[in-house]
Amino acid sequence: MSRLLTNIDPAPAGFELVELTKRDLLAQPVGVLVADIEDLSRVLDRYTERVLGIVITLGEAYRLEEKSALLWHVTIPPSWIAVVGALAQGWLRTIGSADRANQLLNASQLGTERLRRELELTRHDYNELTERLQSQVRELVAAKDALSSMNSQLEFRVTERTVPLERANMKLSLVVDNLKRTKDELGRLAEVVGLGSLVAGVAHELNTPIGTALTVTTTLADESRKLHAEFQGGVLKRSHVEHFLRAAEEMTALLERNIFVAADIVNRLKQLANDQATESPRHFKLHETVADTLKVMDSQLRELPYKIRLELDASIEMNSYPGAISLILTNLITNAIRHAFDGRKEGVVTIRTAMHDTNTVNLSIADDGNGIPASQIERVFHPFFSTKFGQGGSGLGLYVAYNKAKKILGGKLTVTSELHHGARFMLEMPRVAPQRDRSAVELAPATMPLRL
Ligand SMILES: Nc1ncnc2c1ncn2[C@@H]1O[C@H](COP(=O)(O)OP(=O)(O)OP(=O)(O)O)[C@@H](O)[C@H]1O
Ligand SMILES: [Mg+2]
Repeated sequence: MSRLLTNIDPAPAGFELVELTKRDLLAQPVGVLVADIEDLSRVLDRYTERVLGIVITLGEAYRLEEKSALLWHVTIPPSWIAVVGALAQGWLRTIGSADRANQLLNASQLGTERLRRELELTRHDYNELTERLQSQVRELVAAKDALSSMNSQLEFRVTERTVPLERANMKLSLVVDNLKRTKDELGRLAEVVGLGSLVAGVAHELNTPIGTALTVTTTLADESRKLHAEFQGGVLKRSHVEHFLRAAEEMTALLERNIFVAADIVNRLKQLANDQATESPRHFKLHETVADTLKVMDSQLRELPYKIRLELDASIEMNSYPGAISLILTNLITNAIRHAFDGRKEGVVTIRTAMHDTNTVNLSIADDGNGIPASQIERVFHPFFSTKFGQGGSGLGLYVAYNKAKKILGGKLTVTSELHHGARFMLEMPRVAPQRDRSAVELAPATMPLRL
C-alpha cells in the first residue's frame, strides 16, 4: 500500500499528517496532499523530475495534469476532501501500473540495448571478418596475378628454349636418319660389292652343280667301263645294255642341267667383269635406250598377259653407259615377270624417267605385283639370294644390277616394297657418268652371301 502524506491539518481520511521531508517525497510511489504546491519546491527542488506519484492541491475544480507518466498533479475542489484518500489510492495504482510498464519498458529497452550492443559487436566482428576476407581475396588475386605472370614468363622461357631445342632435335633426327640410311646402305654395299663374298659365293654356288656333275660323270664312266668289260669278256647281255642306256640318259640330263647352272653363273660373272672392262661412255637419249631394251625383250613380253606402261621424259639426254642401263632394266623387268607376277593373270610394270635435279636422272621400275616381304627386302641385292633357286634363279640379277648402278653409272639402285602391294626399284644416276679407272675392277671384302 502506498503512502499518502499531507501537511494539511487535520489530515483527510487515508492521509498521514507529516512534516514533509525529502526522504518522504522520494519514497515511491507517494501521494502528497499539499495546501500550496510551493511547499514541495521548498522541500525538493525540481520535484517534478524526481518524485514518483501524485501531488494533490486544492483548487476550484477537478483537474488532472500529467507532469510525466509517473507524476500527476491533481487539483480537487475542497468538497472532495472526504473522498480524496480513496481517489488518491486509485490514482496511485494507476501510476504504479504505469511504473511497472515503465520498468518493463526499461527492461525491454535494456534488452534492446544489449541486443543493439551485441548487434553492434556482431556488426563489428562481421566488418572485421569481411575486411579480413577482403584482404585475403586481395592477396589471393595478387598471388594469382603473380602466378599467371610467372606462368606466362615460364611459358615464354620454355618456348624460347624448346623451339631451338626442337629445331636442333629435328636436325639431329634428320642427321640420325641420314646416318642410319647411310649405315644401312654401307652395310648393304659392303656385303653386295664384296669380292670376298662373291668369291665365297661363287665357290659355294658352283660347288653344287660341278660336284653333282662330277659324281654323275664318275658313275657314268664306271658304268661304261663295266659294260666295256662285259663286252670284251663276251658276257654282255641285252638287259645290261638297256639298263646302261637308261641310266646314261638320266645321268646325261642331270649333267646337262648342272653344267648349265654352273655355266650361267660363270657367264653372269663374266658379263659383270667384261662390261666393266670394255664398255665406254657415250651420248644417248634415255627414252631411246628404254625403247631399244623393250624391243629386244618384245618377243618374250608379247607372249605374256602383262603390260608395260611408259612415262618417259623424252628430253633427257645422258652421257653414260646405255648398255649398263639396259642390263639393269632387263633384270628388273624380268624380275617383275618372274617374281612380282608369279601366280597372277595380270600385272602392270610402270617405267618412268624424270630429272631428279639438273644433274641427276631418275629411272623407276614399279610393278603392282606380289611385293617383297620385309624380312627379305634387305637381302634382295645380296649375291645368290633368290626365292627361285632350283627354278632358274641364281640370285645374281639384282646383285649385278646394283653393281652396275654403283660402279658403272656412278649412281644407286634402291627398292621399296610392301607385301602384296608391288615393288618399286629406283635407279638414281648422274646425267653424265663419272670418269672411272677401268683397270680397277674393285670389289670390297664383305660377309658371306645369304641364300634361301
Ligand atoms: N619385282 C619383284 N617382286 C617381288 N620379288 C622380287 C622382285 N624382284 C626381285 N625379287 C626378289 O628378289 C630376289 C633376288 O632377285 P635376283 O634378280 O637377284 O635373283 P633371281 O631373279 O631370283 O635370280 P636371277 O639371278 O636369275 O635374276 C628374287 O629371288 C625375288 O625373291
Ligand atoms: Mg632376277
